[in-house]
Amino acid sequence: MSIVVAIDGPSGSGKSTVARGVADALGLDVLDTGAMYRAITQAVLARGADPHDAAACAQIAREVAVDVGERVLLDGIDVTSAIRGPEVTGAVSTVSAHSEVRSVLVDRQRAWVDQRGGGVVEGRDIGTVVFPQATVKVFLTASGDERARRRQRDEQEAQREVEVDEVRDDLARRDHLDSSREASPLRAAPDAESIDTTGRSATEVIDHVVQRVRAAVAEAG
Ligand code: DC
Repeated sequence: MSIVVAIDGPSGSGKSTVARGVADALGLDVLDTGAMYRAITQAVLARGADPHDAAACAQIAREVAVDVGERVLLDGIDVTSAIRGPEVTGAVSTVSAHSEVRSVLVDRQRAWVDQRGGGVVEGRDIGTVVFPQATVKVFLTASGDERARRRQRDEQEAQREVEVDEVRDDLARRDHLDSSREASPLRAAPDAESIDTTGRSATEVIDHVVQRVRAAVAEAG
């Protein structure tokens, strides 16, 4: 049986940590689809295209090669740090709102899973659009304060100093854009389990998701 674990939620909800932990425990690969949208946004900015121009963004998305693993490669160039910088973070919600861009990346996300016969996939629309038949779907949330603190810690680890209020405002701005867009808005699938990770350890959440996957596999026989 091919196992697909869909992990969705807003920025700072703990998706990446939980996705990595679940993938390690189950011996699966993990795909960070946010990094794919960020890499396309990096290419749009590098080429001087307008992030609001859907056709131009989709054309670029079709042309570039994006490889998301330990490092993120854009046409073979390492953009792992650049895609977390303020320029890309500021434009990624605009670029990812175009349905033409999304359809290019959704096809690649499905191909990635097909090649491996399964995997753990994290993003915003994995349980709703990309893999509606996923083995297990979770939608992670956390309080605004906790999410801002986590994002600030990520920024500090990347040697970028930001105020927690600034991070909180940016999260609210992106949440609004990601949730209100017409194409595949950020939303929990009706059959996803919502998990509030505020005050819970990563291990606790990872163990819970792993148990759910094992139970689903056992049930399928
Ligand atoms: O997870 P992240 O913050 O790196 O994602 C960056 C942006 O990409 C996010 O603001 C919305 C977009 N995104 C998306 O639209 N669909 C996904 N499956 C993943 C990310």
